[in-house]
Amino acid sequence: MVSKIIIIIIIFQIFIFSSTKAETWIRAAYYWPEQKEFPISNINSSLFTHLICGFADINSTSYELSFSQSGEKHFSTFTETVKKKNPSVTTLLSIGGNADYSTLSSMVSYSSSRTSFIDSSIEEARRYGFQGIDFWWSFPRTSNDMDNIDLLFKEWQEAITVEATNSTKTKLILTAVVNYFPKVGSQNYPVDSIQKYLDWVHVQNGAYFLPNYWPNFTAAPMALYNPNSTVNNTDYGIRLWIDAGLSPKKMVLILPYYGTAWTLKNPNENGIGAPANGQAQASGLAYKEIKTYIDRYKAKVTFDATYVVNYLTMGTSWIAFDDVETIQHKVSYAKEKGLLGYFVWQVAYDDNNWVLSKTAAQGGHEIIFPPPEDNRNGQKKQPYRLLVIVLPIIAAVILLLGFVIYIYYRWMRKNKSKDVYSFGVLLLQIISGKRVSILYGENDHLSLLEYAYELWKDGKGMEFMDPSLDDTYSPCRLIRCLHIALLCVQEMPIDRPSMLEVSWMLRNEATNLMIPKKPALSKETDHEVVQKESSTSNSEIRSDIDTTVSDLEAR
Ligand SMILES: *[C@@H]1O[C@H](CO)[C@@H](O)[C@H](O)[C@H]1NC(C)=O
Ligand SMILES: *[C@@H]1O[C@H](CO)[C@@H](O)[C@H](O)[C@H]1NC(C)=O
Ligand SMILES: *[C@@H]1O[C@H](CO)[C@@H](O)[C@H](O)[C@H]1NC(C)=O
Ligand SMILES: *[C@@H]1O[C@H](CO)[C@@H](O)[C@H](O)[C@H]1NC(C)=O
Ligand SMILES: *[C@@H]1O[C@H](CO)[C@@H](O)[C@H](O)[C@H]1NC(C)=O
Ligand SMILES: *[C@@H]1O[C@H](CO)[C@@H](O)[C@H](O)[C@H]1NC(C)=O
Repeated sequence: MVSKIIIIIIIFQIFIFSSTKAETWIRAAYYWPEQKEFPISNINSSLFTHLICGFADINSTSYELSFSQSGEKHFSTFTETVKKKNPSVTTLLSIGGNADYSTLSSMVSYSSSRTSFIDSSIEEARRYGFQGIDFWWSFPRTSNDMDNIDLLFKEWQEAITVEATNSTKTKLILTAVVNYFPKVGSQNYPVDSIQKYLDWVHVQNGAYFLPNYWPNFTAAPMALYNPNSTVNNTDYGIRLWIDAGLSPKKMVLILPYYGTAWTLKNPNENGIGAPANGQAQASGLAYKEIKTYIDRYKAKVTFDATYVVNYLTMGTSWIAFDDVETIQHKVSYAKEKGLLGYFVWQVAYDDNNWVLSKTAAQGGHEIIFPPPEDNRNGQKKQPYRLLVIVLPIIAAVILLLGFVIYIYYRWMRKNKSKDVYSFGVLLLQIISGKRVSILYGENDHLSLLEYAYELWKDGKGMEFMDPSLDDTYSPCRLIRCLHIALLCVQEMPIDRPSMLEVSWMLRNEATNLMIPKKPALSKETDHEVVQKESSTSNSEIRSDIDTTVSDLEAR
C-alpha cells in the first residue's frame, strides 16, 4: 500500500519535473553609445537578460556595416564590459536606427546587396563577440520593401544557420524592430516570415501623440489603453499582431524610459486632454531628468490607470511619462498576454538607482487588469478586487500542499529501504501468484524470496511466474520484474535501490541491472556461488531480451 503511494508520488514528480521546462522571459535593454555621459560600464547588467548595442550603420554603396571611429570602440568593448557584472547576459548588435531610408530600401531590393549586408552583419557580430543581431528599420514604406524584407529575413536566417554549423559556434539570435501594429501605413509586414525566421520582434509601441503634430491638447503618448481612441494605444497594436498570426511569444513590449512635455493653456486644467499650446521642451525627456524635476519642484505625480500613464504638472509644463506604476502595469500586461518579455528604450535614461529597471525586473504579477472593454467606457470599475484576495489564498494553499508533499517525501526517503523491500515482496507475490512459502526441491521449505532467488540463480525464473499471467509475448518483462524485485529484497538495505531507481528500471528496459545478492531472511552466506551462478543466468536473460526485441521488431 505504502509502496503504491510512493510509486504514485514518483510518477507525479516525474510528470511535474518534465512539465516545468524553464520559461523564457526576456528583459532586454537598448544602449546607444551616442549618450557619451553614460559609459557602458555604468550599465547594471544584472537587471537584464539581453543588452542590445546600437547602431551600426550601412554603407550606401557596399551595403556592408560601417562604424564611426568612436562607435567602433563602443562595439568592440561592449560585450566584454557588460558581462563583467552579469556573465550570462546575452548581447546583440543592432543595425539601422537612424539609418537612411533609401540605403535600406535599396539594400533589401537586390539579392547581391542583401548577401553583402547579411555576410557583413554576421562577420561583424562575431568579430565583436555579439551573440545576436537586431535590425532596426523604422520603417519600410512600400509593398516592395515589405516583400523584400520577407526575403531578407529568410536569407538572413539561412545564412546564420549555415554559419553556426560551419563555425560550430552557438547560432546567432536574429531580431528586428517593428511598428506597433502589423502595418506601416497600409503596407502589411510579412508576418509569416517574422514568425518563421526571427527569434522575436521589438514592438515599437509608443509616441501615438507628439506635441509637434498634436499641439492643442495634452495626451498620453505611450498609453497602454485609450478610451478615446481605438487605434492610438499599445493594446490595440499587440492584439492586431496576434490577430495577424504572430505568436505572442515572438513579441517583446517596449518600456519607454522617457516622457513627453506639452505647455498648458491653463495650469489648473491639467489632466489628459487638457487644452495645450504645443510642446514645452524638446520633447523626449529622460526619466532621470524628470526625476530631478520632481525632486527639485516637489511636483506631484499622478498615475492614470485607465490609460496606464503617469503625468505631472510643473508651472505651465505638463509631462506624460512612465513611472514605477506604469512600468509595473506594462510588465504585468506583457505577462498576461503571454508575450516573450519587454525591452527598455533606453538603459541610460533610468535614474541613478535603477528604479524603473528594478521594478520591471521584479515583474508585475500582483496587478490584475481591467479588460480594455471596461476601459473604453472610461469607467474605473473594480470587479477584480475579489481576485486580488482570492489569488494569494490559492497561492498559499498550493505552497502548503507543496510543503506537505515535500515533508512526506522526505519521510519516505528515510524509510526508503523498508519500502523498497515491501515493494519487492509485493511484486514477487504478484508475479508468482503465491503468498508466503513454497516447497522446493527434496524437502526444503523456502520462503517466497529464497524460492525466487534460487530459481533466478538457476536461470529458471519463468518457473516462478504465475501461469495465469500471459507471458507468451513478454517473458523478458516478467523476468525483468523478478530481477528488479530481487534487487529490492536484498539482505543488506544498503544494496537495495531507491524507489526512484526502481521506477527508472521499470520504465527503461534498456538499463542494465545489478546482480542481486541474497534476499533477506535466508540462512546461508556463500558469496562466491552467488557471483558465479548469477553471471550465467544473466547472460540467459540477455538472450531472452534479445529474442523478444527481435520479435517486437518483426511485428
Ligand atoms: C544592480 O542590480 C542589482 C539587482 O537588482 C542590485 O542588487 C544592485 O544594487 C544594482 N546596482 C546598482 C548600482 O544599483
Ligand atoms: C563604403 O564602401 C565603399 C566601397 O567599399 C568605400 O569606398 C567607402 O569608403 C565606404 N564608405 C564609408 C563611409 O565607409
Ligand atoms: C564553411 O567553412 C569553409 C572553411 O572555412 C568555407 O570554405 C565554406 O565556404 C564555408 N561554407 C559556408 C556555406 O559558409
Ligand atoms: C490646433 O489649433 C489651431 C488653432 O486653433 C488650429 O489651427 C489647428 O488646426 C489645431 N491643430 C490640430 C492638430 O487640431
Ligand atoms: C490617432 O492619433 C493621431 C495623432 O497622432 C490622430 O490624428 C488620430 O485622429 C488618432 N486616431 C484616432 C482614431 O483616435
Ligand atoms: C474624449 O472624447 C470626448 C468626446 O469626443 C471629449 O469630450 C473628451 O475631452 C476626450 N477626452 C480626452 C482625454 O481626450
